[in-house]
Amino acid sequence: MTASDKTKSANKNTITIINNKNNQRHELDILSGTVGPDVIDVRKLYHDLNLFTYDPGYTSTASCDSAITYIDGEKGILMHRGYLIEELASESDFMDVSYMLLFGELPNARQQKRFNTEIKMQSLVDEQLMRFYNGFRRDAHPMAIMVGVVGALSAFYHDSLDISDPKQRHLATIRLIAKMPTIAAMAYKYAIGQPFVYPDNSLSYTGNFLKMMFSVPAEDYIPNPVLERAIDCLFVLHADHEQNASTSTVRLAGSSQANPFACIAAGIASLWGPAHGGANEAVLNMLKVIGDKERIPEFIAKAKDRNDPFRLMGFGHRVYKNYDPRAKVLKESAHAVLKELGVEDQPLFELALELERIALEDEYFIKKKLFPNVDFYSGIILQAMGFPSSMFTVMFAIPRTAGWLSQWHEMLGESVQKIGRPRQRYTGKDHRKFVPKDKRV
Ligand code: CMC
Repeated sequence: MTASDKTKSANKNTITIINNKNNQRHELDILSGTVGPDVIDVRKLYHDLNLFTYDPGYTSTASCDSAITYIDGEKGILMHRGYLIEELASESDFMDVSYMLLFGELPNARQQKRFNTEIKMQSLVDEQLMRFYNGFRRDAHPMAIMVGVVGALSAFYHDSLDISDPKQRHLATIRLIAKMPTIAAMAYKYAIGQPFVYPDNSLSYTGNFLKMMFSVPAEDYIPNPVLERAIDCLFVLHADHEQNASTSTVRLAGSSQANPFACIAAGIASLWGPAHGGANEAVLNMLKVIGDKERIPEFIAKAKDRNDPFRLMGFGHRVYKNYDPRAKVLKESAHAVLKELGVEDQPLFELALELERIALEDEYFIKKKLFPNVDFYSGIILQAMGFPSSMFTVMFAIPRTAGWLSQWHEMLGESVQKIGRPRQRYTGKDHRKFVPKDKRV
């Protein structure tokens, strides 16, 4: 089959496909978004032609309409609701961005105040939920705890499970955004054997998170404003990223009308993998293994070797074929955080900068358009601030919850609700006769 003949009539753009097997021609509509590539509407393909499209990994498939996030991977542009990520990172804050992702516009002062208050009022978790933690081993990975405990929220908040009720959907949304830092900090405290710290609603979202992570009952704790701002910026940068693996997981889980807590738990599970959000932890582990600038060429060679499964973690992206704009902001932020902490010559940061320099001059990375992604510098910042590497992906999951929920709401708001159900190209055996047990060789 060949795709050809892109015809443009006055108000309808179409593409004609010709099936060379039977010379059948069929016209498909081409739909345009606000910006970005047009899409071929293949919804009637199976009905009309008994054909499926084939696109493992969805490299060329738009799975939905969305008005939340736009990425131009060739130019390295990321926008939420039309605002550039660089501007949001410097001018806005995570609560502001969460509101905008969810409701479409930046909040005015009244809306902002109400939203912040709503979030603060839900920052506690049920006391009974705290007992869950005792069931985990002390050395459990915090992402394992996150998947379990967030999924378990559906066993606690029965009054926000009915997805057909907008009030319940809203309540579940507020609960999830509000409780993620609490659940995450508790996972950390459990691992290190310290008492859980209750939320402090006098603090900002990120200030409160830092306090729940790093304070102990024996001492007063005041969050360092520079670090508080750095974490807030990190949260802004991670808040949404259109139809990535975890977001698509949330949408797919949600398309079956599963409850929001279960959907977000599914998103967390998907995020955990090293090809996705788990890469930030993998970057730091990789830098520790490399250990010294002199060994960089050895690891660059490994990354280029087709027979070696090693990849340069924090490099490359399905969509960005240019510098990830989030990585640029984080590189700057790393300088500021390390300066504030008085560790500007931090060896891992030096190593990361040198690794980036060498990789970006290498023909392999240039040709394949592999640039640092959001996960490359985030671990450096987090480690310098005292977060263990096992918490890095959790630090991605907290802000991404706002994006997941925005996408989930958007999906549920569509006029036609369809369960997500991809098709396949079957490559197994055709029908054959059953072999009874005593006749099998
Ligand atoms: N190091 C070495 N080679 C690489 C890398 C890398 N980090 N990334 C891609 N390549 C090569 C890959 O081997 C392939 O080569 P060839 O065409 O010769 O087979 C080519 O580049 C294209 O790679 P791909 O795996 O087909 O691309 P993809 O779009 O399916 O994968 C990716 C994207 C992010 C999974 C991949 O670049 C990767 O594994 N990177 C390392 C993990 C990482 O940093 N992940 C975080 C992604 S950003 C944040 C997030 O999504 O959570």
